[in-house]
Amino acid sequence: MRLTHLLVLTALFVGCSCQYTHGYFNWLARIMGYSRYYSNRYYGTEPEPPLATNCPAECTCPSIFPRAMYCDTRRLKYIPEVPARMKYVYLQSNQIDAVPDGVFDNATHLVWVVLHWNKISSDKIGANVFSKLTSLERMYLGHNNLTKIPFPLPKSLRELRVAGNKISTVQPNVLEGLDNLTKLLLNDNELEDIGGSLRVLKSLSYLDLSNNHLKKLPEVLPDSLHQLYLDFNHINSIPNEYFQQFPKLQYARISNNELTDNGIPLNTFNVSNLIELDLSHNKLQKIPPVNENLEHLYLHANKIKEFTVDSFCRTRGLISFSKIQVLRLDGNSIKQDNIPQEVNSCLRQARIINI
Ligand SMILES: *[C@@H]1O[C@H](CO)[C@@H](O)[C@H](O)[C@H]1NC(C)=O
Ligand SMILES: *[C@@H]1O[C@H](CO)[C@@H](O)[C@H](O)[C@H]1NC(C)=O
Ligand SMILES: *[C@@H]1O[C@H](CO)[C@@H](O)[C@H](O)[C@H]1NC(C)=O
Ligand SMILES: *[C@@H]1O[C@H](CO)[C@@H](O)[C@H](O)[C@H]1NC(C)=O
Repeated sequence: MRLTHLLVLTALFVGCSCQYTHGYFNWLARIMGYSRYYSNRYYGTEPEPPLATNCPAECTCPSIFPRAMYCDTRRLKYIPEVPARMKYVYLQSNQIDAVPDGVFDNATHLVWVVLHWNKISSDKIGANVFSKLTSLERMYLGHNNLTKIPFPLPKSLRELRVAGNKISTVQPNVLEGLDNLTKLLLNDNELEDIGGSLRVLKSLSYLDLSNNHLKKLPEVLPDSLHQLYLDFNHINSIPNEYFQQFPKLQYARISNNELTDNGIPLNTFNVSNLIELDLSHNKLQKIPPVNENLEHLYLHANKIKEFTVDSFCRTRGLISFSKIQVLRLDGNSIKQDNIPQEVNSCLRQARIINI
């Protein structure tokens, strides 16, 4: 495979809004490692364009992708000089502990800054280091030593990844003005209460707050949300009409929390745009009513005793049926001889029902 193909592949992959991006950076790192390995031999036959000549000795700047600088996985302890032409800088998987003011001063056209899996602490990020990057769209700072979200951030930002840090609060004004931010990864942190600080993110569609210490759902979230992930927290109840606030919400995951029947008002999940709902590993004893458009429902590892179709089909008969494709009820207390006859007509689109 030629390097051009690899880069196109990478670009395609990065552009997808995949549900599960786990392991994605390992994959990316492998591809980049591969391209580095072959780069000498490959470029040996090509004339170098003058644009690509200055490149810090620590990094690789492929001449066919002259605005990208690859400095990942090299045990770097500092950020090398970033030439002015650069738009994409890959610095992940190093030992960088600081982002001091000035390091990006020449590179004001940066669009991506990739710094995950380093050792950056919040108090070692310069106060003005990011705010000058007025074209910056993606900032990857996951798996560092941050205790708060860096501030100020450029208003152009579309994606902010700060998962796997030690963030315990989101300061009220820190996200103000980030009107183009669509994706925010705050999972695997130490958040106990997020208050209303995310309300200002007018375009937010993807929010991951899983693996924190949240005891309740965030009070106010933007109504632009499309995917909301809250797995592995300590949430035991849901406020009345909570999900009605989000007319675009299609994916909601609240698995591995402490939800009980009493904590869930009757029509909580009867919201018509939801297509995937994960409530597995909670303490539910009943199947909550869901809307008829729902396609994937995960309720495994709860305390459900009875399987009735009332939660899926409001009326019996041929006209009304549920769009459920996958239903997981395994790891509950439902007996095999308790499966209602109406399953065949109500759940007629189901491909998988695990009991
Ligand atoms: C910016 O560019 C100037 C001139 O090329 C250079 O002397 C300086 O070290 C650069 N600074 C950084 C932080 O890259
Ligand atoms: C993480 O940051 C704290 C201060 O916020 C500091 O005491 C600690 O040494 C840092 N750890 C690493 C591994 O850099
Ligand atoms: C936000 O996105 C719009 C549309 O892509 C763009 O025109 C605008 O400049 C962006 N805002 C900022 C502050 O970059
Ligand atoms: C669910 O919502 C729909 C539309 O808002 C409503 O007609 C229906 O009665 C609700 N289902 C239940 C079980 O309340």
